[in-house]
Amino acid sequence: MTILDIVTYPEPFLKQPTKPVENIDGSIQELITNMADTMYVAPGVGLAAIQVGVDKSIIVFDESPDKEKRAYRVLINPEIVEMEGETLSENEGCLSVPDFRADVKRSALAIVEGLDRDGNPLKIEAGGVLSIILQHEIDHLNGILFIDRISALKRDLYKRRVKKALKKK
Ligand code: NI
Repeated sequence: MTILDIVTYPEPFLKQPTKPVENIDGSIQELITNMADTMYVAPGVGLAAIQVGVDKSIIVFDESPDKEKRAYRVLINPEIVEMEGETLSENEGCLSVPDFRADVKRSALAIVEGLDRDGNPLKIEAGGVLSIILQHEIDHLNGILFIDRISALKRDLYKRRVKKALKKK
């Protein structure tokens, strides 16, 4: 099992938009497997390739990771094609934004299209937790962190805390 290092804020790499995957080859399959292992060990419910230092458009997710059976899904080159309604994602967090959680306004429903790990088209009509996970992970692919979607006041609070911690090091 290979556990990858997770890139954390304020690393500028996380702001980088990702490139679409053009060829789903062995190295992509290996990356996906490693991303899933990394997500479960973290533990998290979703992970984008950019978070492990790869600027490619790939996400893995599992909305119920505490079940014994691991059943993660993969989306390559995902795009949100439709959003509907509004919901408050309570206490949202991110493996790249350690030790911080905040409420985030999200769409209630999201329809996402992409490819599965074999390159077959995959369309997911998501509500509830899955909708929030997909919006969060696809944000990563566009260089957006959940702290970019909260009030400037709350964001500054976190930024100041990170700066302090970095100084101590
Ligand atoms: Ni995240």
